[in-house]
Amino acid sequence: MKQDLLITISNSLEKSNLIEIRKDFSGLLSSIETNKSKNIVLGNGFASIQKEFLLGEINQILETHTIERTKYYIKRLKKSLTETKHNKINDLNLNRWKEYDDIITDSLWILNKRDNSGAHHAGYWGNFIPQIPNQLLRRYTKKGEWVLDPFLGSGTTLIEAQRLGRNAVGIELSRKALDQTKKNIAKEENPNNVKLEFINSDSASVDLKSTLSILDIKSFQFQIFHPPYWDIIKFSDSKSDLSNTKSIEDFLKGFGKVLDNCLPHLDKKRYAVVVISDKYSCGEWIPLGFYVMQEFLKRGMILKSTIVKNFEETTAKRNQKELWRYRALAGGFYVFKHEYIFIFQKK
Ligand SMILES: C[S@@+](CC[C@H](N)C(=O)[O-])C[C@H]1O[C@@H](n2cnc3c(N)ncnc32)[C@H](O)[C@@H]1O
Repeated sequence: MKQDLLITISNSLEKSNLIEIRKDFSGLLSSIETNKSKNIVLGNGFASIQKEFLLGEINQILETHTIERTKYYIKRLKKSLTETKHNKINDLNLNRWKEYDDIITDSLWILNKRDNSGAHHAGYWGNFIPQIPNQLLRRYTKKGEWVLDPFLGSGTTLIEAQRLGRNAVGIELSRKALDQTKKNIAKEENPNNVKLEFINSDSASVDLKSTLSILDIKSFQFQIFHPPYWDIIKFSDSKSDLSNTKSIEDFLKGFGKVLDNCLPHLDKKRYAVVVISDKYSCGEWIPLGFYVMQEFLKRGMILKSTIVKNFEETTAKRNQKELWRYRALAGGFYVFKHEYIFIFQKK
């Protein structure tokens, strides 16, 4: 297939008759259309190409009316098949950007079905859905790089990192949660020989310098923070647990200490992300998300995006839907349906 494709492309670039070029590409189109697989496999070190992408590109060539424009699209197709274009923060081939149709680029994320594959499970109250780290790791890291998750919980980030070939360090204050998470992740295969490091400690004070030196690395290329949403869920009895802070000021101070401990070990120009929601308390909407965002800005991080993500509906929430709707109508407020993912870049 590759040979046909590249020969047709090269020959067509030599031709000056639009009708002839169209005939060649129509032939190519029908042969691709009859191919049953979703991906067209190219040999000799070429990655496979999505059939849909190829069909789209060829249709664009066929729909064009001038020879100049037709050749422009043919050259673009040739480039996407034979050359790669990367930026410094991920492995996406920008010459084939149309193929990444599952990578979200809008700031509103509606994710309804949790990925429950392998070691992923919804059993850890307060964990995020795997699609969050999956999307972010593919956008902000390359294979073989190092990721830090200072609020490991059930290890959703580390499971995704391992699957995607990224090394990762996870820090978790609760020994019980950490042991369970370690055991659970051990069930997953590790085809990319990824290194995962589990640390039972307080992320505000853990000695990351020695962690880095033990791992024989200089820094992290991505950091993802998913702290407790203040006291909405109590994770443990520990005083250092951010879910046990007595006031919003103490929570932010504690979270700030985690940032002061972690952000210095993030490479310049690389990204850090926080997943957080607001909170409703005593008739007042507390903009926890925006306060937390400020903590990053105070430390000189650049805000790159604010993503609003829906809360998936759990059975418990579904059962209480009517009650909350009534309360909202009676009390003059809106029912929480979203959380935030703030994306930052280090200067
Ligand atoms: C919202 S959960 C993270 C869930 C995780 N993203 C997942 O998908 O499972 C927050 C976690 O931070 C932990 N934690 C709270 N304070 C901490 C601290 N000071 N240092 C490290 N971990 C802490 C809690 O025990 C809890 O597991």
